[in-house]
Amino acid sequence: MSWPSVQPAPADPILGLTEAWRADPNPRKVNLGVGVFQDEHGRTPVLPSVKAAETALVAAETTKNYWPIAGDPEYGRRVAEMMWGDVEGVARVRVICAPGGTGALRVGAELIATVAGRGRTAWLSRPTWPNHRGIFAAAGFAVREYAYYEAARGGVDREAMFAALQQARPGDAVVLHAGCHNPTGTDLELEDWRRIAAVALDQGWLPVVDAAYLGFGGTIEEDAAPLRALLETGVDFLVAVSFSKNMGLYRDRVGALAIVARDAATAEALLSHARAAARVLYSNPPAHGPQIAMRILGDRLLREMWTREVAAMRERLARARESFAEALTVRLPDRDWSFIRRQRGMFSYTGLTRAHAEWLREQRSIYMTGDGRVNVVGLTPVNLDYVCDSIAEALQTVRPS
Ligand code: LMR
Repeated sequence: MSWPSVQPAPADPILGLTEAWRADPNPRKVNLGVGVFQDEHGRTPVLPSVKAAETALVAAETTKNYWPIAGDPEYGRRVAEMMWGDVEGVARVRVICAPGGTGALRVGAELIATVAGRGRTAWLSRPTWPNHRGIFAAAGFAVREYAYYEAARGGVDREAMFAALQQARPGDAVVLHAGCHNPTGTDLELEDWRRIAAVALDQGWLPVVDAAYLGFGGTIEEDAAPLRALLETGVDFLVAVSFSKNMGLYRDRVGALAIVARDAATAEALLSHARAAARVLYSNPPAHGPQIAMRILGDRLLREMWTREVAAMRERLARARESFAEALTVRLPDRDWSFIRRQRGMFSYTGLTRAHAEWLREQRSIYMTGDGRVNVVGLTPVNLDYVCDSIAEALQTVRPS
């Protein structure tokens, strides 16, 4: 055939912003869009623990032969131990290495579709990371939303959320954020997770937990508490893990899908279906990044070094929140900006509307997603005043829409 004439695909709502920001000639441009860690100088450095693990890896590596489809079993064990410790419950867990959190979610979606049948529904929080929709739609799911964020209170609307989850049917996937909810920074309590497990057990749907920000809300152990709570309830579930943020391995695509089933034999059978799904999607995983993660998780000294580095990133996030809230309060004292301090993780859900975001982009070359989500570590001592002056101006001059 010859190609028909086609319109270009719409720009990605997050990665497309970075492309537009790169092309913007304004020297004052600021990228508050994509969730990438930056230090106070606006740099995204390679973590020293990663450098050390990578250097040792390159020196010791003797082959680039394929990895197994599920990755090295040691990688899987280390990832499971990171989340659940060396506990007996891990016997009912199997892990497949995947290219980033996105790869893990896509393999998970294929696994559910294979086992539960195509045409199920994936339930996403309102709002959620926009890629969730595309990932589950690509695996043949219908996509619906459950209520989550209550803007007026800046909290989770539990009543509406649990009412919506009553509508999920057996075999449906309910996508949840382990913590540092993207985009709202507003998380569930441990009690909510236990209740979610009870409803899932009762109704036969599967929790699919997106764990992309472990270590950015609290320590890795603290942020993995919801995963431990789910494991204890006996519910079946999936976890999509990403090391993009907490190891800064963004472009190396390091992730994993943890499959939690009623017993080891079932988990093993499910793993074989996940492997079959991965085989047709990308054949077998990239090994370079996962080998770095495996070394860090498995070596006491590297692990301690990494733990300190994650703590330092968390502190930078907290400082950025503090200065952002303070700088906005100085300019707009009639509004309560304390929610910025309470939200967790990388993002602040500012309440700015699409019209504000567009004005800021067009008039000030400040890039944020259309829902008003701001990557707080995109703010640096150099750009903070410029960004906050511009936000104040946008709020005073632009009609929200
Ligand atoms: C984000 O939400 O900005 C990150 O998860 C990066 C991405 O892939 O969208």
